[in-house]
Amino acid sequence: MRQNPSSLVVVANRLPIDDSVAPDGACEWRRSPGGLVSALHPLLRHTPATWVGWAGGTGPAPRLPAIDGVRMHCVALTAEDLRDHYEGFANATLWPLYHDAVEQPEYHRRWWEAYQRVNQRFAEAAAAVAEPGGLVWVQDYHLQLVPRLLRALRPDLRIGFFLHVPFPPPELFMQLPRRAELLRGMLGADLIGFQRAQAAHNFAQLVVKVLDLPATDRRIGVDDRVVRVGAYPVSIDTAEMAALAGRPDVTARARRLRHDLGDPQQVILSVDRMDYTKGIEQRLKAYSELLAGGDVKVRDTVLVQVAVPSRERVGQYQILRDRVEREVGRINGEFGRVGEPAIHYLTQPFDRAELAALYRVADVMAVTPLRDGMNLVAKEYVAARVDDTGALLLSEFAGAAAELEQAYLVNPHDLEGLKQMLLTALRASPDDVGDRMRAMRAHLHRHDIRAWARSYLSALDQTGSLVTRLGSTG
Ligand code: ADP
Ligand code: G6P
Repeated sequence: MRQNPSSLVVVANRLPIDDSVAPDGACEWRRSPGGLVSALHPLLRHTPATWVGWAGGTGPAPRLPAIDGVRMHCVALTAEDLRDHYEGFANATLWPLYHDAVEQPEYHRRWWEAYQRVNQRFAEAAAAVAEPGGLVWVQDYHLQLVPRLLRALRPDLRIGFFLHVPFPPPELFMQLPRRAELLRGMLGADLIGFQRAQAAHNFAQLVVKVLDLPATDRRIGVDDRVVRVGAYPVSIDTAEMAALAGRPDVTARARRLRHDLGDPQQVILSVDRMDYTKGIEQRLKAYSELLAGGDVKVRDTVLVQVAVPSRERVGQYQILRDRVEREVGRINGEFGRVGEPAIHYLTQPFDRAELAALYRVADVMAVTPLRDGMNLVAKEYVAARVDDTGALLLSEFAGAAAELEQAYLVNPHDLEGLKQMLLTALRASPDDVGDRMRAMRAHLHRHDIRAWARSYLSALDQTGSLVTRLGSTG
């Protein structure tokens, strides 16, 4: 059955829902954790759009109902695609390379073949559902070839591309055996968006160096077209998170959580996907040294570490999880007491209300990635602090640090610096904490997810009709 074509099509590797098994054994659908989905899902709600993506399994594509008015168009991946495209080229080649090569990227020719094949499939799916002259917005590193492939199939479309992760400096990108094809793939778009101006600069430099095209940080000439490039820092639905965090049941839940944690003087919280880019091990080491040195005491201060498993079949992720769990066990064994663990370690996915309650209970939120495109958890924490309390400890290497300048900024590679800044955040005066939080909340109020979409889409959609429609939803 052919569905009606859409004027806005979002193409992302992942659909906003994930199949998972309910306690009674039935298959259930829930929102997938991850920044891309957190950003786009609230934005598109009630917009007549189609989301083209993968539902998280292998085998034939399931037929999915529309969610909040957004049509779901599922692209199937075979077991081989999953291994070589998603786990391979996307998450064991590009992901580590784009995050400062904090883990060694791997290069395999078979993975590249799968990347091309899966990108072609996504391009064909988008071509099939976009209305004539419609707008297609391609997302993230899994699909860098789609803009060019789609333009070949449907030259009538306006095509946007947005990269949620960092775009690396030339000396790292140059390692990629198929670097020219990846750049050409992105240049099929009319507008290429990055999180930060530095990424746009890196991209322009590479286009000159590898493809010998005329390029500035804002405009690139390709054949007879001009491709525009820019920085559009992604955000969150600030008002939604604030409303959730202020709900009486969430406030009550936060109180209950604090009580269940033993009513400590201070709660430190971290919420991450279990990923080696998030600096979880460095943070645990800092915390453990503070405990060992007597700077913090388990009875007064607890750490809640939420680390939802991610990309679990990729070797580097398995190794990380083992190491983190061994370290949490060691720290609890050494510093905890009966009924008083030093770290409360949780690996479950939570619904938005439970996350909001956790944010409300945290006196200090420790967000210390080694490298991160943006980090929406940091923004969610700020949005949830409706009473202007709470200290945000934030890595300089998260995209969010460029905007949340009033956070307690830290270099997570510097263990002593990390320990000192964590203590500074724990011991800061309420006035200092309040001034910083107010400034960050004011920033997020102006720069929310709708402002992001408006600025990106108005640059892409010169007729402006779509932007007007998005602006009126919510
Ligand atoms: P990344 O995109 O690398 O995962 P971000 O911080 O940008 O990092 O986004 C993570 C998103 O996933 C946030 O919106 C956060 O609320 C969500 N998330 C993280 N952990 C969980 C969890 N345990 N349950 C539900 N959502 C989670
Ligand atoms: C990051 C990426 C997203 C991805 C998310 C979750 O935010 O930029 O594209 O969806 O992580 O990762 P996963 O592999 O589960 O899709």
